[in-house]
Amino acid sequence: MPDAEVPYAAYQPAPVSHLPPVVAELSEASAGDIDQLAALQTEVRGGGVAQWAERIGRAVGAERSVVVVARVDGEITGYANVTFLPEHPGDGAPDGYYLSGVTVSPRWRRQGVGRALTRWRMAWVWARDPSVWCFVSARNRASLDLHTALGFVEVRRAPVLQGVSFEGGSGALLRAQRPI
Ligand SMILES: CC(C)(COP(=O)(O)OP(=O)(O)OC[C@H]1O[C@@H](n2cnc3c(N)ncnc32)[C@H](O)[C@@H]1OP(=O)(O)O)[C@@H](O)C(=O)NCCC(=O)NCCS
Repeated sequence: MPDAEVPYAAYQPAPVSHLPPVVAELSEASAGDIDQLAALQTEVRGGGVAQWAERIGRAVGAERSVVVVARVDGEITGYANVTFLPEHPGDGAPDGYYLSGVTVSPRWRRQGVGRALTRWRMAWVWARDPSVWCFVSARNRASLDLHTALGFVEVRRAPVLQGVSFEGGSGALLRAQRPI
């Protein structure tokens, strides 16, 4: 399932109660993590475990990309990707390192795991390139808030970005520049 079709978290900018943040241990995914990550994706986005395992397996260890896993007390609570994409010939989205697929287990949401996974990936990209890119459905307000609070700035909106179309609307192309 493309990122644009994720069942988004309900938008709650000011929740009545807030769980305390957890300290997640972050590390690059290894082949041994693939089955658990595929199970997490199936829970969050649907689809088949085998299909997800095949897709995640291709991402783990791929060139100019990274898959990062968050664990709390050994339990996988979320994961996310970075991939280098060339300029898209159809929609003109620029080449660069793109954050994608940040996914947090519904049981562990709103405790800082998504923020930690994003900060880790920003640092990973900035060690290689001054710009970090991502695209987010304009309807995914939780994700937009997550990224803009970390310094991402909207560059433009478009119905298709890097070949991904956004169901019922547009996507926001975001960039965060490495601090000088
Ligand atoms: C989006 C997602 C990754 C956020 O993960 P998370 O671990 O719950 O996020 P965090 O606890 O780190 O939240 C960081 C900030 O993001 C924003 N945010 C996160 N969830 C939100 C929500 N449901 N409503 C409004 N803002 C939200 C808030 O600004 C939050 O800071 P705060 O809690 O201090 O207010 C998670 O909801 C998820 O997996 N959603 C489904 C997949 C998805 O949409 N991925 C993004 C594709 S681009």
